[in-house]
Amino acid sequence: MTAFPIRNICCIGAGYVGGPTMAVIADRCPQIQVNVVDLNEARIAAWNDLDLSKLPVYEPGLDAVVDRARGRNLTFSTQVDAAIAAADMVFISVNTPTKTKGLGAGQASDLRWVEACARQVAQSAQGHTIVVEKSTLPVRTAEVVRSILEAAQRQAVDGELPISFSVLSNPEFLAEGTAIRDLESPDRVLIGGENPVAIQSLAEIYGHWVPVEKILLTNLWSSELSKLTANAFLAQRISSINSVAALCERTGADVREVARAIGSDSRIGSKFLQAGPGFGGSCFQKDILNLVYLCRHFGLPDVADYWENVVALNTWQQHRISRLVVQKLFGTVTGKRLALLGFAFKADTNDTREAPAIRIAHDLLEEGAQLAIYDPKVDPQQIAFDLQLAASSPPDVQAGPTRAALSGEGTWWSGTSVADTVAGADAALILTEWHEFRQLDWAALAPWMRQPAWVFDARAVVDPEAVKSSGLMLWRVGDGAV
Ligand code: UDX
Ligand code: UDX
Repeated sequence: MTAFPIRNICCIGAGYVGGPTMAVIADRCPQIQVNVVDLNEARIAAWNDLDLSKLPVYEPGLDAVVDRARGRNLTFSTQVDAAIAAADMVFISVNTPTKTKGLGAGQASDLRWVEACARQVAQSAQGHTIVVEKSTLPVRTAEVVRSILEAAQRQAVDGELPISFSVLSNPEFLAEGTAIRDLESPDRVLIGGENPVAIQSLAEIYGHWVPVEKILLTNLWSSELSKLTANAFLAQRISSINSVAALCERTGADVREVARAIGSDSRIGSKFLQAGPGFGGSCFQKDILNLVYLCRHFGLPDVADYWENVVALNTWQQHRISRLVVQKLFGTVTGKRLALLGFAFKADTNDTREAPAIRIAHDLLEEGAQLAIYDPKVDPQQIAFDLQLAASSPPDVQAGPTRAALSGEGTWWSGTSVADTVAGADAALILTEWHEFRQLDWAALAPWMRQPAWVFDARAVVDPEAVKSSGLMLWRVGDGAV
């Protein structure tokens, strides 16, 4: 089958998904011009910054890829209409957050930006344009996109270039922190659609670096549903292991030993069995809630309840950790200084969306704690925003204690190193598995803490013996033996 020739790609949305994905496509396909557009001028300026350490997304290896392709066949701009008009293929990679109000609030995805993009594509596209859904979307969204585009198709008048569209679903499976590796050697690429020529065109782009047997072709709805299902299964494993972690703590078992034992069964597999403070990130919770909403919509309330419990267990795990910190510190943290090490939702990213640290910090502030928060990559202004302190005038987070806008009397400030964050603290809570937290010299840190002091290791990254021999008390997630 002959593919439709793709010489020019436009991607709407220069976020965590759109930016790295397009950078890798441009890097691997120098013959294709790739234009990434976004409404957010500051973000585009950051993508164009000559200092590659200022890119808006922190991903290992991204700077080198951008350096090779930017200015050659990769551009970042705010000229959305022009980029659409020039494109043979348009990727929609805008955010689709959970709705906060109206029908489906708290569960359904807010598709207003996807719809707006579809309308903009309908208005500005020239000739035949393949529209690719990259954002995670509820099943059957392609129908919305397609009906908007079809309306424009009919509006093409004689004398002008005929305007037509094909819609494809091409969900992204990259994980933050390993985005470049995941894009360069994916387990699979999924393309869903109905027009075989359009499917082939997209498959040929990936074919420049992905082996053909890894490019899976499905119908549109299977592709959309596969993305939600993949994330739901991954999240379910985390809730499962976290539920077992709690039981381990009660019984004297060690969840890492249990994980190794069950993970050695090739039917179960060893990945995604790390107990922790619960999953965060922009996708897992949102996608499961989407699945829940869909199941209810399609008259499957029991299936909806089943998946909803994966999220409920995750929330429970986060509150469980804050509760146990309070309990171990003699039932109160009011006025006590606690060091939070790590704020990103996982290591190797500056992303804090749905980070477990947010809920745990919030709980402890409600209890009146004084939090010193340190993360090697997260901007203190982002922490302020996440803790809902950024209201009208953003606090000067470096300047010292900031009164929290919460019902409790808690305060927080941002530390600049582990040493100044733990100084004077009654406890250190490790919430992100940053490499530097694995190598801390607890014997040197312990004397700076107020005794008796605790280490709460929600990521199981410390050496238990090193912590205990420094005279500190230790709680490690899922470890009933400490
Ligand atoms: C991606 C996916 O697109 C989303 O569906 C998935 O669930 C999470 O990952 P992500 O790239 O992480 O989203 O989102 P974000 O970093 O917020 O980037 C989206 C970008 O789209 C933003 O820069 C925003 O300014 C831009 N945008 C949004 C537009 O350019 N136009 C719009 O109409 C809306
Ligand atoms: C996820 C999916 O992995 C990816 O395929 C999809 O495209 C987007 O959502 P991401 O959210 O970037 O990617 O990170 P991931 O590595 O999956 O981690 C998600 C959360 O689960 C993190 O908070 C992480 O710390 C947590 N996690 C992961 C665990 O608690 N235990 C594990 O064993 C694995």
